[in-house]
Amino acid sequence: MKLFAGIFSVSILFASCGTTEKATTDVVAESFDFASEQLKYALSEIDSIRDNLTTEQREKMIFTPRNIQPDGTLRLVASRDWCSGFFPGELWYMYEFTGDDYWKEKACEYTAPIEREKTNGGTHDMGFKVYCSFGNGYRLTGDSTYRDIILESAKTLTTRYKDKVGCIRSWDHNRDKWECPVIIDNMMNLELLYWAFKETGDSTYYNIATNHALTTMKNHFRDDYSSYHVVDYDTVTGNVINKHTHQGYAHESAWSRGQAWGLYGYTMCFRETKKPEFLQQAKKISDFIFNNKNMPEDLVPYWDYDAPAIPDEPRDASAAAVAACALYELSMYDHDNAAIHKERADKIVESLSEAYRANLKGDHGFLLLHSVGSGNSKSEMDVPIIYADYYFLEALLKKQKLEHSGTALL
Ligand code: GLY
Repeated sequence: MKLFAGIFSVSILFASCGTTEKATTDVVAESFDFASEQLKYALSEIDSIRDNLTTEQREKMIFTPRNIQPDGTLRLVASRDWCSGFFPGELWYMYEFTGDDYWKEKACEYTAPIEREKTNGGTHDMGFKVYCSFGNGYRLTGDSTYRDIILESAKTLTTRYKDKVGCIRSWDHNRDKWECPVIIDNMMNLELLYWAFKETGDSTYYNIATNHALTTMKNHFRDDYSSYHVVDYDTVTGNVINKHTHQGYAHESAWSRGQAWGLYGYTMCFRETKKPEFLQQAKKISDFIFNNKNMPEDLVPYWDYDAPAIPDEPRDASAAAVAACALYELSMYDHDNAAIHKERADKIVESLSEAYRANLKGDHGFLLLHSVGSGNSKSEMDVPIIYADYYFLEALLKKQKLEHSGTALL
């Protein structure tokens, strides 16, 4: 099945229009063809940097791409960076689509250095790092050593759970500013815990993930279902201390990627728990995003829905890619609105592949241009960023699966 996935997806439609005949190539197959060329180029770019690393960089064990820096150079990061799992994850998605062992070998090579994160209890980003890399690897190969690594990672993540708050602590930095900061992004790391519950039957994982989602639903969202980025808690009383938006424009603004993390997170939580309140939350977040007066026609949002200089603000392709992944899955659960969710996801995928694509054998091998890391601190402004590419490939796979097998679940 895997071997033929790519072949099945190639559908060439010929539409007759007067005397001209227009060929429309399937966006999934065409995008994976592009990704195949581009990621081979990325691997050669990485190799040339690794051949010329400084002693300090070698000591830091940097190995995997994150973004393009303001001086035009490719930034590689070490396993402890929250973005380390995305490039290996992309290589696994390439293997999933093509069935070609070349991609499996590369995926294994780039996944292996992340193992050391399994005992790193200093971060909530375990899901991003380990589930995108080892998680996809285990799903596609069934390698039991991968399973053990993922389980240990999940156990480590649970050590950050604060009983009194009902959430996993997100960041350890800025201790002078926050006591127990919980960020909306953390919803994404719950998938690792639900996976561990299904593998082991240990309900601790399920309860921590579900409590975190319920607490976040209560405290992160405004009346219009937009969300704050950071909610800080008192660990003794469990009370909310303050609500901030650290990477967005202002505390009361709606940071675009944060809204997308929420949409993906609650859709996934509904899949894992079947709790109707999680489906309701995903639908409401989707309504906020797609009925927003500042959402552009191509459905690729500005980096913050309230950025002051819209329409002269950078877009965030990564927020669009994350939302597309969520919408394909949401279309399976929200039956009354299935068509509109699918249409919106398709529109995003088409926009990204038509107007946000990087240059073939350029841009250090990234797939998409125009993402924003942290607009508030003017960091990673309007550049290719690795997670946009990862979620773009995921969205393509989900689209294909939904159209060919009736399920967006990979
Ligand atoms: N911290 C994850 C993000 O920038 O979305």
